[in-house]
Amino acid sequence: MRVLVAGATGVIGHPLVGALRARGHEVSALVRQGSRARAPEADQVVVADALDREALLSAVSAARPEVVVHQMTALRLLRDDPPAAFALTARLRTEGTAHLVEAARAAGARRLVAQSVAFAAAPAGEPVLDEDAPLYVDAPDPGWAATVRAVAELERLVPDSGPVAGVVLRYGTLYGPRTAYARTGGTARAVLAGKLPLPGGGAGIMSFLHVEDAVGATVAAVESEATGVFHVTDDDPAPAAQWLPHYARMLAGPSPRTIPAALAPRLLGWFMAHQLTAAHGAANDRARTALGWKPLRPSWRDGLGRE
Ligand SMILES: NC(=O)c1ccc[n+]([C@@H]2O[C@H](COP(=O)([O-])OP(=O)(O)OC[C@H]3O[C@@H](n4cnc5c(N)ncnc54)[C@H](OP(=O)(O)O)[C@@H]3O)[C@@H](O)[C@H]2O)c1
Repeated sequence: MRVLVAGATGVIGHPLVGALRARGHEVSALVRQGSRARAPEADQVVVADALDREALLSAVSAARPEVVVHQMTALRLLRDDPPAAFALTARLRTEGTAHLVEAARAAGARRLVAQSVAFAAAPAGEPVLDEDAPLYVDAPDPGWAATVRAVAELERLVPDSGPVAGVVLRYGTLYGPRTAYARTGGTARAVLAGKLPLPGGGAGIMSFLHVEDAVGATVAAVESEATGVFHVTDDDPAPAAQWLPHYARMLAGPSPRTIPAALAPRLLGWFMAHQLTAAHGAANDRARTALGWKPLRPSWRDGLGRE
């Protein structure tokens, strides 16, 4: 199949281009002008900024894709400029997705696969939630509420029927090469510096996903006929009280100290405090059934902090 990957220089996009080509697909890598030098080896490289509608329409139509994959975020800016990272990522999830859906339709594509996140649900109900759980659009933190509203808009824009059939993949918290949880990533640095303590009982539940499994599930979604929204997570949702000390041990860092839960938002920021104290996990049963996919790394216990 002819597949276009938007975000082809990214943590997932880059290995995804190689994985799709290894499966025999003809892959076009969509990159921005300034990132051309970092484009992966592909059958074709097309250039556009997704926030520039005209440029995107013309680049996608040049590639004539049957399937379009959306892996665009601006989260790489998180280290230097978090407000810009979130604001630009929200624009990519709203305007960028609208442009890409329009471009896919205009180019005659029949399928669109888009990246979302598995940790945007409101923290209510069962400890591990399925895809029907409401998103946390009214989170008390205005920044996270804006992020979740942009996620909801992406999930609304990606059609689940019509000429372009849509699939939304809600990836779990990514670990592995080039992610924040890699040994050289931002979260690892915080743990090594003793700056990621365990608030209260560490009851917040995380669903992790190795980046290789994100790539594998995306290949499965490209090749499948399934539509809809799917959690793409490992099989082992776990509370912070389990994964954070394990991660610190694997990094050979100090044991995380315990702090009162009430101090966490001020010390860690609202989002990390929420993840460590209150977040619920995400169940992957629907992705397993509908996409015929299962994680090759079923538990974070075997790899988190190793690479
Ligand atoms: N589920 C999760 O836990 C999750 C999900 C996403 C990200 N993350 C974390 O966030 C960090 C970044 O990962 P990522 O894969 O999202 O980001 P990434 O590696 O920076 O990839 C994002 C892609 O989007 C492209 N892009 C950005 N703005 C664009 C625009 N205006 N037009 C066209 N393309 C644009 C980037 O291209 P350029 O090369 O031109 O910038 C890049 O190819 C990692 O640490 C990862 O672990 C985590």
